[in-house]
Amino acid sequence: MPVAAPVTIYRKDYIAPGFWVDTVEMGFDLHPQRTHVATRITMRRNHDSAEKDLVLFGEYIKLLQLRMNGMNLKKSAYTVTKERLVISNAPDQVTLEIETAIAADKNTTMSGLYVSNGNFFTQCEAEGFRKITYFPDRPDVMASYTVMLRGDKKLYPVLLSNGNLIEQGDLGDGRHYAKWEDPFKKPSYLFALVAGKLVCQEEKYKLKSGRKVLLQVWVEEGNLDKTQHAMDSLKNSIRWDEDRFGLELDLDRFMIVATSDFNMGAMENKGLNIFNTKYVLANSRVATDTDYAGIESVVGHEYFHNWTGNRVTCRDWFQLSLKEGLTVFRDQEFSGDLVGNETGRAVKRIEDVRVLRQLQFPEDAGPMAHPVRPDSFVEINNFYTVTVYEKGSEVVRMYYTLLGHDGFRKGMDLYFERHDGQAVTCDDFRAAMADANGRDLKQFERWYSQAGTPRIKADASYDANAKTYTLTLSQSCPKTAGQAKKLPFHIPVAVGLIDANGQDIALQLQGESTISTTKVLELKEASQSLVFTNVANEVTPSILRNFSAPVILEFDYSDEQLAHLLAHDSDPFCRWEAGQRLAMRRLLKLVTAVQQAEALSLDDLFINALRKTLNDQDLDPAFRELVLTLPSEVMIAEEMATADPHSIHIARQFVRSTLAQHLKADLLQAYQDNLTPGKYNPDAKSAGKRALKNCALAYLVEWQDAATYDLAHTQYQEAENMTDRIAALSAMLHCSSALDKAHSKTRKQVLAHFYQEFDSEALVIDKWFTLQATAPTADVEQVRSLMQLKAFSMNNPNRARSLIFAFCNANPARFHAADGSGYALWADCVIALNKLNPQVAARLSRSMDRWTKYPKANQALMKAALQKVAATKNLSKDVLEVVTKALA
Ligand code: ARG
Ligand code: ZN
Repeated sequence: MPVAAPVTIYRKDYIAPGFWVDTVEMGFDLHPQRTHVATRITMRRNHDSAEKDLVLFGEYIKLLQLRMNGMNLKKSAYTVTKERLVISNAPDQVTLEIETAIAADKNTTMSGLYVSNGNFFTQCEAEGFRKITYFPDRPDVMASYTVMLRGDKKLYPVLLSNGNLIEQGDLGDGRHYAKWEDPFKKPSYLFALVAGKLVCQEEKYKLKSGRKVLLQVWVEEGNLDKTQHAMDSLKNSIRWDEDRFGLELDLDRFMIVATSDFNMGAMENKGLNIFNTKYVLANSRVATDTDYAGIESVVGHEYFHNWTGNRVTCRDWFQLSLKEGLTVFRDQEFSGDLVGNETGRAVKRIEDVRVLRQLQFPEDAGPMAHPVRPDSFVEINNFYTVTVYEKGSEVVRMYYTLLGHDGFRKGMDLYFERHDGQAVTCDDFRAAMADANGRDLKQFERWYSQAGTPRIKADASYDANAKTYTLTLSQSCPKTAGQAKKLPFHIPVAVGLIDANGQDIALQLQGESTISTTKVLELKEASQSLVFTNVANEVTPSILRNFSAPVILEFDYSDEQLAHLLAHDSDPFCRWEAGQRLAMRRLLKLVTAVQQAEALSLDDLFINALRKTLNDQDLDPAFRELVLTLPSEVMIAEEMATADPHSIHIARQFVRSTLAQHLKADLLQAYQDNLTPGKYNPDAKSAGKRALKNCALAYLVEWQDAATYDLAHTQYQEAENMTDRIAALSAMLHCSSALDKAHSKTRKQVLAHFYQEFDSEALVIDKWFTLQATAPTADVEQVRSLMQLKAFSMNNPNRARSLIFAFCNANPARFHAADGSGYALWADCVIALNKLNPQVAARLSRSMDRWTKYPKANQALMKAALQKVAATKNLSKDVLEVVTKALA
């Protein structure tokens, strides 16, 4: 079937811009149907560039006027296509005056200037500025901006843009104005404006230097009771960046604005961060512990971009991970440091690794696999991926592991010393890290250029006579699209050795004098052997401590060794990992047993190992909860040559209910021990207790008797915070017995009650949709009928994600229904979203990434659905790129 050939852009084709921009002055006359934008740009020729024309990008805007150096530009002097405006023979010094008109109310893409609940917002990253005016909209063009906003006083009492408010006043005709000036040069993707009916919580905050700054969190009326946590998170972020990296807020004013219509999490526009409400609004009634943690990390993330992203930005979009990987690393460290203790930090680390494995490993193994620094793309918005963000953060973390705390800081300091105010590349960052530490990090470059998840195979042997322990590490990396052969990576592998008593032994490598209990080995060859000396007795290796590299580790552990590690490893990550390995082994066997209709059983070693962890009062509740949580259905599927979602679900539920039977008393005890009465506190300690308690509850309802179901029901009714309330509701809806229609009346009642209670809270109604979409009882028909509700809307990305994405991505057993109805639903939704919002549509397209992993019958149906989408008229390049790559 004929689909338009997508245009691919290559990293190797980068050329510097033909013109630099010095200043940009913009005037906006805000009207929803027709916003008039007047822009004056001063430019000068870049004599070092091979690009001789003056190239401006522009899309979906009406060009009203174009003047160059004070004269109307003759039609023959320039060409306009759908995507650009090119002026040839421009003089070396140019002042352009451009007038454009925008229909913001018709803009459903949430990129460029758009309207949400009657208010104006912008989203310019990656290429949204070109939907506002014609401009050299590329990140290496940095300029000073002055922005004048004019609008109706009643409809738009608040007028915000980047930087400082330098003037405001009345225009007499019911309209008013505000003039903003950003003191820092910035690329156009960091431009922002907000106009509308908003209110704010504000505070004067004193920096360490003594300078006072104004902090504001802007929300719609009625939400001021939900801004405190975002404000606290912002203050914590400011303090943390001063303490840990010596980086100070460079503005006198810092604003956060929340909108319920947003494609992603949030955006770091200079001085005017715009957020999805999901990452701002919270109080104990409506937000869960997970929501609180999400807000803290996203507020931190956007704030940290002010230095890593804004002060030093990307030369081109292939370098996206330069700012995103680094900033994710920074927000992860921020959240870890904020907990304030080692276990808390380890819990955060494990949660982050789980995200990486759940989302990034599959991406790296699928048709959209790409290096952290991609070589090409069709649509850049498709590359805001878990690879660029999360794997990118792992790459930054490896510098940290290799260079140490102080060495990493030296590298950061040199990076800013060299590049403040510049648009640079991943190579520049690597050079700063290497040069500041006198290290050769040449081979480390492969982490940026090679896609795919490396595998390390470890072998060990103990020589009782020589008292040596030899560890052999071999690395490989599967081929990915366009990369058949991979060269060895430079991999930090943190190792410990544990004796029969569970103690770390002192490690000494042959030929080295330093002694420690954890050694960071540097694996650089395809295979390397390392010899530890003075090893008195046989030991169990604890490999890849703290997940020191984003790889898959294979080691032939015995069950007894894993139980030993789970009981004793001083490294919390490897300790948790041992439990996951025990579980995964059993789950995979059980899936086969389900497929062959054999009897299912679970062994005592495993049950007792989990019992021991569950009851270990020396362990943080949060950590115990992580151990008790089985690998997800998605992770199990990734481990299988041919995934079988239905059998996976049955096997995993069998383990859950069997554990519930054997550990009933222990689970009840854990439930009782971890109640958190009194005022709700979202801190890590209380959240950890709630997590364990609610994990116990979810197991207990698998016991399938009236008493445990009542426990959940009572918790639902009496809950004083959303964490406990939704956990109870989820336990009731997601337990295995829900499939036998037991308690179905109660379930209907609580769902209806929940809806009524939170009718006016959009983010809670999102949860209501998600709970149903991910229930074992959900089916396509039910999802379709939920889509018919007035409360549902495809136009709102959060709502679309809460129902459709949740069903397609988080309910594999139902999505992969044998009749293909899930795939048909997927295709319908992608096609519908494609018309409204290509970015969101393309995200949903990704649900089919792993289609070749399913049984032949499913594959045929999935392929047909992909082909149906690919054959759709007027397909956006966003969706086209994803489905084309899936079908390639
Ligand atoms: N830079 C933003 C962040 O990571 C993400 C915005 C990307 N938006 C987009 N439409 N591609 O915080
Ligand atoms: Zn970011």
